[in-house]
Amino acid sequence: MDKIVIKGGKPLKGAVKISGAKNAVLPMMAATLLAEGRFEIRNVPDLRDVKTMAHLLRIIGAKVAFAESRLVIDTSDCGFYEAPYELVKTMRASIYVLGPLLARYGQARVSLPGGCAIGPRPVDLHLKGMEDLKATVVLDKGYIVAKARKLRGSSVSFDVSSVGATGNVLMASVLAEGRTVINNAAREPEISALAEFLVKMGAEIEGIGSGQLRIHGVSKLEPVSFDVIPDRIETGTFMIAAAITGGEVEIQKTDPKLVASLTSKMRMANVMVEEGESVIFCKAPERLKPTNVTTSVYPGFPTDLQAQWMTLMCLADGSSVIQETIFFDRFAHVAELRRLGAQIQVNENVSIVTGVGKLIGATVMSSDLRASACLILAGLIAQGRTDVLRIYHLDRGYEKIESKLVGLGANTWREEGSS
Ligand code: EPZ
Repeated sequence: MDKIVIKGGKPLKGAVKISGAKNAVLPMMAATLLAEGRFEIRNVPDLRDVKTMAHLLRIIGAKVAFAESRLVIDTSDCGFYEAPYELVKTMRASIYVLGPLLARYGQARVSLPGGCAIGPRPVDLHLKGMEDLKATVVLDKGYIVAKARKLRGSSVSFDVSSVGATGNVLMASVLAEGRTVINNAAREPEISALAEFLVKMGAEIEGIGSGQLRIHGVSKLEPVSFDVIPDRIETGTFMIAAAITGGEVEIQKTDPKLVASLTSKMRMANVMVEEGESVIFCKAPERLKPTNVTTSVYPGFPTDLQAQWMTLMCLADGSSVIQETIFFDRFAHVAELRRLGAQIQVNENVSIVTGVGKLIGATVMSSDLRASACLILAGLIAQGRTDVLRIYHLDRGYEKIESKLVGLGANTWREEGSS
């Protein structure tokens, strides 16, 4: 298993280009199953999760080619309606094929996702949504087995706003008979991008970006070409990297609107943030002001930036409170940050971070994608050498992160095949 080594203490300077959004391209890839033919999806990040979804589509019968950030997917010969455990256990987002397979082929057999390091992640809302659209759903030996001769439009209301369940029900409803209304729908930009992708395929969707989606089922959809939105979590990670290293960085090929909640917190922490059309310029302050954060659904502060924000607050001039409201147990990174000398108390889903003058390099272990990003950030400022182990987590969601960091002046490299 590879590790990343970082010699900390260098302020990041220069420009970095942001890749396409992982959490937008994964449901789009699944959505290609809703139509027959050749799709072209551009600005696609070269990530392990993209390769896993491509592998799943090939198992279902699609032809998938990926080169230079461009995916070509041909769904003409799909005929196998199953997402096997071997794949789903490596990537929960595999569940996104449930809605499209059910809508297009009237049947789907999808392994139930297993446990996750960031906390309990049930899929009950996905299943309830399919049943609301008049599918029969049973669990059989760890598999979701769903059937429907023809899905029928209906009103679907979620107790909690779920990105995944909204995406799955949205994809199932576009070919259903009649009208579907999804209440308390997720407003995340990745779901709005999925909805735009479906509209381009010929779907009829109103209320995109609002908490209520209204879908009129159609009988047929067409393959399209589409550009994936920038990755707002990668954008936020590099904004924090600039601030935490005392640097100044221009973040390019992004969209400032997507990180508005982070930008306001950065400014409260004294970080200078300037926005252009598709660029963001971040300059670190002399003194980082402690700033509290509570994660919430979009457009609130994203849970996928909570760990990175915590690392920043380790260097703030005082104490800050970080409350996690989406994944209550999402604090696996705290113990690793403490190994670098951080002072963090955790009580249920609330953590209090007391700023320290410095962190000291050590060997740390990644537990999940965003935790690994926060450890990389910590390594950039820690004195001496930091070894971040198990970075296969990082490769799931960050394209070529160490070469992007080296491009900004960081002293970091990857070491293959260590523990
Ligand atoms: C998506 O996960 C993202 N993953 C996650 O990013 C992100 O953290 C999360 O949304 C929240 O923003 C992808 O897009 C592939 P949810 P998802 O359904 O869809 C509860 C990353 O780092 N819930 O919005 O799984 C759930 O337990 C990943 O890129 C139910 O109770 O998240 C959680 O508390 C990590 N029942 C809340 O809803 C359900 O059926 C939000 O989860 C579904 C969810």
